[in-house]
Amino acid sequence: MVSKKIILAFALIGVLAFSGEQFAMSDSDRAIYAEMLESNPADMDVEYGSELMEDLVGGDEGLAKFLGVSEDELPAYIAGFPRYIEKLGLVVGLDQVLQALMAENGKKPFKLKSKDMFALSTYAKSIANGEASNIDVNANEHMKKALALGEKTFMTKRGGRGLSCNSCHAPAVIGAILRTQPLPELGADGVAVAATWPGYRMTKSSLRTLQRRFQGCMKNALLKVIPIGSAEMVALEVYLTNRAKGIEIAVPGLKR
Ligand code: HEC
Repeated sequence: MVSKKIILAFALIGVLAFSGEQFAMSDSDRAIYAEMLESNPADMDVEYGSELMEDLVGGDEGLAKFLGVSEDELPAYIAGFPRYIEKLGLVVGLDQVLQALMAENGKKPFKLKSKDMFALSTYAKSIANGEASNIDVNANEHMKKALALGEKTFMTKRGGRGLSCNSCHAPAVIGAILRTQPLPELGADGVAVAATWPGYRMTKSSLRTLQRRFQGCMKNALLKVIPIGSAEMVALEVYLTNRAKGIEIAVPGLKR
C-alpha cells in the first residue's frame, strides 16, 4: 500500500508549484500528499537515529554536554548550525559534531555519507523541530568567511556546461521548467528549503542530508562533485541556511 502511495505522491510533488490546468491537483491527490506528510517514511530512520544516539553518545544529554549547553538550551542551539565549534577549530555541520562526539566516546565515527550518519544526524536535527532556524553568520570571522565562501561556491560557474548553482536557482529562473521539473526557489518566501533538510527523497526512496542533495545537483548538472563535510560544502550549507533564517525547522522533510 505504502509504495503505491509513494509513487503517486512523488509524481505530484514536482508539479506542486503550478496552477495551470495540466498541473492541477485534484482534491484526492492533495489528500494523498497530505497523508504522506503525516507519515513520512523517514520517521523510521529518525527513530533508529534516536537509538543510535542513546547507544553511542549518551543521548541528548551527551550531545548537550559536548556542545557546552544545557539540555533546555539544546533545541535552539541546534537550530543555529552550521556553527564555528571552538573545540574543532572549524565551521561544521551537526554531522561533523556527531563524528567528533563518537570519537570522544571511543566509537568509530560513521562516515558522513553513510545511512547511519544520515539517521543519527537527522535525529539530532529533529531535536530543534519547531524552533526558528537561527544561524548567526556574523557570530565571528569564521562564520563570515564561511558565508562568503558559500556565496562564491553558489555563484561560480563550473563543469562542462559552465553552470553554477545560481544558473538554475536564481530568482529570475525559479518556476521555469527543466525537463518537466520546476526549478525550486532555495530561500525566502516561505520556501526556504534548508529548514526542511534532512529529508526523505521519494525519487531515491531514502533519507538524504542537505549536502547529499547538493551532490545530486552537482552530478546532474555535470559540476565536479564536492565531498560532504569539505569547507565548500559546509559553506554552501551556511549560505542556504542563512536564507532560511527565521523559518521553522521541520525535519525530516518530504522531497521529490
Ligand atoms: C541544471 C540546473 C541545476 C543546477 C546547476 C543546480 N540545481 Fe539544484 N535543483 C535543480 C532542480 C531541477 C531541482 C529540483 C529537482 C527535483 O525536484 O527533483 C533542484 C533541487 C535542489 C535542492 C532541493 C530543494 C528542495 O526542494 O529542498 C537543493 C538544496 C539544490 N537544488 C541545491 C543546488 C546547489 C547547491 C547547486 C550548486 C552546486 C545546484 N542546486 C545546482 C536544478 C539545478
